[in-house]
Amino acid sequence: MNADIGVVGMAVMGQNLALNMERKGFVVAVYNRTRKRTEDLVAGRGKGRRFIPCYDLEAFVSSLARPRKVLLMVKAGQATDAVLKELFPLLEPGDVVMDGGNSHFLDTERRLAEAERRGLLYLGVGISGGEHGALHGPAIMPGGHREGYAIVEDILAKTAAQGPQGSCCAFLGPGSAGHYVKMVHNGIEYAIMQALAECYDLMKRGLSMAPREMADVFATWNGGELSGYLLEITERILRHVDPDTGRPLVELIRDTAQQKGTGKWSTQAALDEGTCAPTIAAAVFARTVSALKEERRAAAGVLPGPSPEIREERGGVLEELFGALYLTIVAAYAQGFRQLGDASRERGYDLSLAEVARVWMDGCIIRSRLLVPMRTAFMENPDLPLLFLALPFASRWREHHGALRATVMRAHRVGIPVPAMGSALDFLDAYRTERLPANLIQAHRDFFGAHTYERVDRPGVFHTDWESAP
Ligand SMILES: NC(=O)c1ccc[n+]([C@@H]2O[C@H](COP(=O)([O-])OP(=O)(O)OC[C@H]3O[C@@H](n4cnc5c(N)ncnc54)[C@H](OP(=O)(O)O)[C@@H]3O)[C@@H](O)[C@H]2O)c1
Repeated sequence: MNADIGVVGMAVMGQNLALNMERKGFVVAVYNRTRKRTEDLVAGRGKGRRFIPCYDLEAFVSSLARPRKVLLMVKAGQATDAVLKELFPLLEPGDVVMDGGNSHFLDTERRLAEAERRGLLYLGVGISGGEHGALHGPAIMPGGHREGYAIVEDILAKTAAQGPQGSCCAFLGPGSAGHYVKMVHNGIEYAIMQALAECYDLMKRGLSMAPREMADVFATWNGGELSGYLLEITERILRHVDPDTGRPLVELIRDTAQQKGTGKWSTQAALDEGTCAPTIAAAVFARTVSALKEERRAAAGVLPGPSPEIREERGGVLEELFGALYLTIVAAYAQGFRQLGDASRERGYDLSLAEVARVWMDGCIIRSRLLVPMRTAFMENPDLPLLFLALPFASRWREHHGALRATVMRAHRVGIPVPAMGSALDFLDAYRTERLPANLIQAHRDFFGAHTYERVDRPGVFHTDWESAP
């Protein structure tokens, strides 16, 4: 019996994907550097399943049907390079290698070039959904060699979540398109989580609400058009009671957010691309500030602020908070899609943003009902510069921008930070302003650096000797 596909890396993601693929009818060869993980799988959850356990890479490669299909689910970075160094020489031209880890897109381009030199087909495959998604159906974002995708399409499409508009897997484009899209997915994820955390802070410190009351509010919000996985788990987290203390578990968790780096990469890439992703960047920096726990503790005694208490009627505050959350979440997607459009033009991905929206509809962490109208917007206008310009989102802006403004002002008044909401508002206010104060910045640049400027009243490039000007 030859395996239809082989998975390298039997940590939680690799194991769950292997189990998922086997359940879809495929024979799966499994291999892990440390033997025990493979042994545990086939003796435990994989017992009686059509797995071919392998304990060295040569045996693993020989167990695969040709053309061989290999999915790597190992730690991103050096570990992936180490595995590929061993694996590449064992494969033959026409075999397909997929990297399903969270690899940096530039690493993917380098590895793809190396695979190409060896006649191998290579795919950088973004996978989202955490361990549950890997087992029950993640969103899968492959990019790289299209001929390679044709060979693995059946397996990946069946392994992925089956969303409201088809399998949450689609070939996204050449080169590093798949990993780039996954990176931006994570950037959007950071921004939505930050926006939800800001709602929690306003409800907790501002309105003195108990976690279970907050959970009820999130449950109501999750019943409407904003419905999505991150809202759903926010409600569930807020209801969770610690069995040891009987207290809401969320209140017992240290308030320092960690990060593995994909939000940072997304922001770095946005800066390199010259695209606008301020809300995603704000969410990354918010985590950085949260990590300064000891400094924050010390500063609390030195830098006073107002009382966080919001002395207003709760219902009205919550109604406006919903509008603020709605627009901030849409701003996160809008900036992410904008970045993808800009990167696609710059890097030749030829991305279909409508297809990206479709792939994100289920299985992944940022799945949300909002992706349905987002997909429609990009189908109607593939070159849409920003989601807010599409009718449904423009009308939501009209409906809710007062609420976003009121919420940001309220938060600032009581000293509760809202970096995601604040940056979404600032971004949209700037985006809808025909004349910004950047003329003064151009004058500054010309003053101290002779960088020149353009004028609004006549064509050309100008420089002024500002020191001698009257
Ligand atoms: N966890 C998630 O929710 C999630 C979601 C999407 C994507 N991902 C990505 O999926 C990949 C796997 O994630 P994970 O959480 O299951 O595992 P992980 O903790 O990121 O990686 C552990 C796996 O990498 C292997 N490994 C590490 N160094 C190695 C080396 N030098 N040579 C060979 N193998 C090496 C380990 O083998 P040993 O057992 O021998 O140490 C183990 O199989 C990662 O790239 C991750 O970023 C994770």
